Amino acid sequence: MLSYLLVFTVIVTVEAQIIKGEQKNDSCMCKISSSIWAFPTARFEGVQKQLQTCEENLIEYHNKIKGSNVQMPKMELSLKNIKARLKPFEYLDTNGLYNTLHLQQLIQELDEMYNTARDAQKKNPSKETNDLLKELTNAKKDVQNMYKNNIFNLETMKSRLRVLNNRVQTCKTIPEDFRSACHQRIISNISSPVVTKLNSISKSYISGAWGRDAKQDSKERYWEHCLVSGNQYGNTIRMYNSYEDFMASKNYKDEYIASSYYHKNAVQGSGTILYDNTVFYQCYGTAEICSFNITTQTSKRMKLDGAGIDNKFPFCYYSCRDWTDIDLEADQDAVWVIYATEENHGNIVVSRLDPLELNITHTWKTHLFKRSVTSTFMVCGVLYATRFVNTYEEEVFYAFDTTTGQEINSLSLPFEKVSSGIANLNYNPVDRRLYMYNDGYLLAYNTFK
Ligand SMILES: *[C@@H]1O[C@H](CO)[C@@H](O)[C@H](O)[C@H]1NC(C)=O
Ligand SMILES: *[C@@H]1O[C@H](CO)[C@@H](O)[C@H](O)[C@H]1NC(C)=O
Ligand SMILES: *[C@@H]1O[C@H](CO)[C@@H](O)[C@H](O)[C@H]1NC(C)=O
Ligand SMILES: *[C@@H]1O[C@H](CO)[C@@H](O)[C@H](O)[C@H]1NC(C)=O
Repeated sequence: MLSYLLVFTVIVTVEAQIIKGEQKNDSCMCKISSSIWAFPTARFEGVQKQLQTCEENLIEYHNKIKGSNVQMPKMELSLKNIKARLKPFEYLDTNGLYNTLHLQQLIQELDEMYNTARDAQKKNPSKETNDLLKELTNAKKDVQNMYKNNIFNLETMKSRLRVLNNRVQTCKTIPEDFRSACHQRIISNISSPVVTKLNSISKSYISGAWGRDAKQDSKERYWEHCLVSGNQYGNTIRMYNSYEDFMASKNYKDEYIASSYYHKNAVQGSGTILYDNTVFYQCYGTAEICSFNITTQTSKRMKLDGAGIDNKFPFCYYSCRDWTDIDLEADQDAVWVIYATEENHGNIVVSRLDPLELNITHTWKTHLFKRSVTSTFMVCGVLYATRFVNTYEEEVFYAFDTTTGQEINSLSLPFEKVSSGIANLNYNPVDRRLYMYNDGYLLAYNTFK
């Protein structure tokens, strides 16, 4: 009996993703990293080429045994799946995207980084900032040599700059007590759901967000925000003054963020968060962050440079979740925004906001393709990303630590859900719970470090 296998195994290094199609015995083996969907898109062309090779092998093999009248429905299905999953990435496979960055821009970016690092060094001299300055100086020399020799690998240089940039961001002015407040950084375990409740309006409201005010020492307030009009917009937030009221869906107050759901201050998408009695969210139809302070009933807005919106870079993993381009999160003393830009090849960018000024203080660029994850949340300056396992299980598989600029690709923290789709995940530093909007169900989990 012949067996037809597509073997997916993991070969991951920071630098390379290897995919080979190989004929072995009577099956064609493709080694495909399960984290292939997290590959830096800069390598997309290479990956695609290797997948094609694999595909060619499969087709050749297919033709060979076709004569013997054996059916290979499974393999064909797998092939189809591979092709289908690559489809969304195809638009990135254009030269334009890679060529937009010229040497001049590299120099400019480098200069900016250098100045920031130098300021940090002046304010707070350390070995880290000193080393960084040296490396930046070397990088500048290398770019100068690129000019001279006219031979260079732009992608390699960009990747190097990204790492340097992340380190510069980290050594900027993060409050000094930040690390100590988050002594043990990486979470190790997520409980079974400790809260499971349908949203207070209707099961048909499958997208939105919910949680508890994320500011330390804030009043214990629970909030619920359901999106209307094609699960895209919202203009009210339902507030509860106690857990009991929340669980009983009573004594709530609907606060108006905007006068209608198509007002320019209305909410777009499910990335909303509440911090300091203030709602932070993507503003209606634009790449801007809005904040609405419920206490003072005042709105602010700020442009998010280069952020993809309107389902350009939504969360996908299993199937794309519309209107999830911009995800707001909060931890002990900052609000964070998670999005993706073309400049970073559709990979996740994390910015730290000053919640009062509503301006960006730091920006890190990750290697994680935004369309390859279901959702993200922030704990103690660490970004976590999840992926779909099945209808009733989700898994944290990736973390990015903004205080070290390091990515952790090896996490496996499974947790349960009651339905397949996740519109929002957010972590609350006050009760250390993770809040999930799960196809209209509101779930919460305890987390452990
Ligand atoms: C190929 O077949 C041999 C003999 O049946 C077996 O020992 C070996 O494990 C097979 N290799 C693979 C990759 O399946
Ligand atoms: C997670 O942590 C809780 C509390 O410490 C413990 O009871 C549970 O067994 C842990 N689960 C796993 C899978 O480690
Ligand atoms: C909201 O307004 C209150 C009252 O003025 C103020 O104390 C609080 O800091 C404000 N919060 C934000 C995030 O703007
Ligand atoms: C944020 O805004 C405040 C007030 O306008 C300003 O003092 C501060 O320098 C800004 N920070 C950044 C990083 O732009």
